[in-house]
Parts: sequence; structure tokens; C-alpha cells
Amino acid sequence: MFDLILRNCNLPDGRRGIDIGIRDGRIAAVETALAGEAGDVIDAAGQLVTPPFVDAHFHMDATLSYGLPRVNQSGTLLEGIALWGELKPLLTQEALVERALAYCDWAVAKGLLAIRSHVDVCDPRLLAVEALLHVKDKVRPYLDLQLVAFPQDGVLRSPGALDNLKRALDMGVDVVGGIPHFERTMADGVESVRILCELAVERGLPVDMHCDESDDPLSRHIETLAFHAQRLGLQGRVTGSHLTSMHSMDNYYVSKLLPLMAEAGVAAVANPLINITLQGRHDSYPKRRGMTRVPELLAAGIPVAFGHDCVMDPWYSLGSGDMLEVAAMGLHVAQMTSQDGMRACFAAVTATPARILDLDGYGLEPGCRADLVLLQAADPVEALRLRATRLLVLRAGRIVARSPAAVATLNLPGRPSHVDFSLRT
Ligand code: FE2
Repeated sequence: MFDLILRNCNLPDGRRGIDIGIRDGRIAAVETALAGEAGDVIDAAGQLVTPPFVDAHFHMDATLSYGLPRVNQSGTLLEGIALWGELKPLLTQEALVERALAYCDWAVAKGLLAIRSHVDVCDPRLLAVEALLHVKDKVRPYLDLQLVAFPQDGVLRSPGALDNLKRALDMGVDVVGGIPHFERTMADGVESVRILCELAVERGLPVDMHCDESDDPLSRHIETLAFHAQRLGLQGRVTGSHLTSMHSMDNYYVSKLLPLMAEAGVAAVANPLINITLQGRHDSYPKRRGMTRVPELLAAGIPVAFGHDCVMDPWYSLGSGDMLEVAAMGLHVAQMTSQDGMRACFAAVTATPARILDLDGYGLEPGCRADLVLLQAADPVEALRLRATRLLVLRAGRIVARSPAAVATLNLPGRPSHVDFSLRT
């Protein structure tokens, strides 16, 4: 006896016509022609059912603040940083909570049920930390929120930042963050990586650093991060986010760097929407794309996820919590148009970040939590092409969001009455 059976599902690994039986909030069976009674049955009609989207890199303390206190007119990183500096003293805990909860609503509607968010710890009031810890508790029934203590202004450069960061960890923040390329000197950047990795060991926590988000080919803090990950036995628990300088690095150097990252068990997160807009802004032509070397990292056996980074905040005026939009941009920027490449891009917003975040019970095997998204698409590639509608979103076997199928009606002589943008009729 099942609580719910989803019949005739296509799965991301290519299996078709599969039934998924759900009992007590967990996946109980995944097979063809599943026998047994069910309280409810949903016909997936040969459409894709996937575990939920996962965002490995976000800034929930800044999200949905677009226009506060003013709009970023130039759309550049530097004006964004200046704007965030203007906004920070005006932040209130209430407003932070309200905006974060509103974003989580958007996320759930888009089938995004797990987010790793950095939270700025440079304000000694730690307002944003308190607010997001509150939000984390509040959304727990429907969304997994993981927090990173992020010293936006540099853990060494910003007075008191290391103490604030430690206090944030004491309060329950899950991951140690950093921003070595923003320290005053290369040497300070290197030192910040050592301090923060040793702190992570002391606290038994993972590390996720903004690393080398720069067009400077000599910004090589990822090497130091990988070195300390290996030295301290942190394999599988360290992530380098952005890594955009790798785009501009010398090829010979990268051929030595990638095996080091692989041996050190360091994961990578690229943020395609942000980095295609913010990097290369000092270039004339040719203009660098600035995203890290995604296919090469993957070929070296390094897990690569795509993050959204920003939605309607001082750095990015766009976005809606749609991880298919993120993946589609990553696919284009990295030229990952091979069949394997497109599937890897879908994995970069689902299974891969789930692994990086070490999410409990994520997946499609019996025993996993019944967190599922029914998409209006036959397979992952079609989902990417169409930014497919999330017809149903389930959390622990319960429907938490639904959207009507996207269909356009036509009024053309001799043509069908509607069009649904798939090749199926
Ligand atoms: Fe970021």
C-alpha cells in the first residue's frame, strides 16, 4: 500500500515509463508497472520526474533588494559593491526575513528545494546571520537552507571579521567561507585560506570560499585552498566558488592545478549568470567570458555545480530562482552542447550540488525522501531548452507547488489550435 504513485515517469538517467511509489514521505519503490494500492495516483504522462533543483551558491541576505536604496545603473561589480555598502546600514532583521522568505517561495515554485547561501558576517551586529538562521528554521519543512559564514570585506582586511565569523559559527552557521582574492595582498589571501581551513578543521565544518573571482590570471588562491584541503584531510568537504581567474590562467599552469584539485577532493561552483555579466568588464575586444573551465574541471573528475549567486540584488537585477535558466546559461557559456555536456549541465543544478552540500536522502532510490519535481518536458535536455514548467513540486511526498502547463493557443488559418513547443504532438 502506497500513499501516492506517480505513474509513467521519465527519469533523468534515461529510464522511461517508470512508476514511483511513495510511502511515509519516502520513495518506497521505483519500477515499471508497479503493483499495489495507492491513496492517490498521478499520471506523469511520460514527462520528466527529477529530484529537486539544488543551488550550491546564493546570497540570500541581499536577494530581492533591487532598487534599495537605488538601482545599480552601470550593472558593474564595483557599483554593486558600493551599493551593498550603502544598503547594509539600512538593513533590518524584519526586512531581511521577509525578503528571504519571499525568495524561498519563488524557489519552491521553481522546484528548488535546497540552497547553500552565503551570509555576510562583516557587520558586527550579525543581523543577517540571525535573520537567515531564523529563516532556515522556518523553511525547514519545505526547503533545506545551508548557511556559509562569508566575510564579504575580507577576513583579514575587515577589522573584527574573524571574530564575527567565529561568532556566526557559534550561532549555528554550517560552513566556513572566505574571499582570499579580496584581501589586500596575495600573501594575506594565502594566509586567510590557511586560517579559515584550520578553523574548519577545529569546528568539524566544511569550507566554501569565494575564490579568485577575478580576471587576474595570477589570482591562484584555489591552489592554496586545494593544498590545505589535502594537508588537513578535508577531502570531499571543500568547495571553491566562482574560480573565474582560471578562465584567464596559463594553460600549462592549469594542467598542473586540476590534478591537485582532484587529489584534494575540492569541488567547484561556477555562477554563469553573474560571471558572464561581471567578468571581462575591463576588457575591450576580444572580451573574455570569465566563467571557470567547466568541461576541463569535469574531465579531471572534479564535481562542478552551477549556482544562481544573485537574484534582484545590488549585483544582478534579473533572475527568478529558476535553476534551469542558470544551467542553460552555463551550457552556452561553456559551449557544452554535446549530449553528455547538456546532461552534465542538468546534473550541475541537481545531483552534483546535492553531493557537494552532502544532502541527506536526496535522489531517486528507494529510501530517499520523496522530494520530486514533475516537469513539462520529456528529458533533461528538453527541460533545459524549454526552461520547462514545474507542473508539480513534491516535498516528502506532499504537493507544495503546482503550475499550469505552458500552452499557447493559435488563431491561424489551417494551423493547429495550440502549440506546446515540444516535438511530440
Ligand atoms: Fe557569491
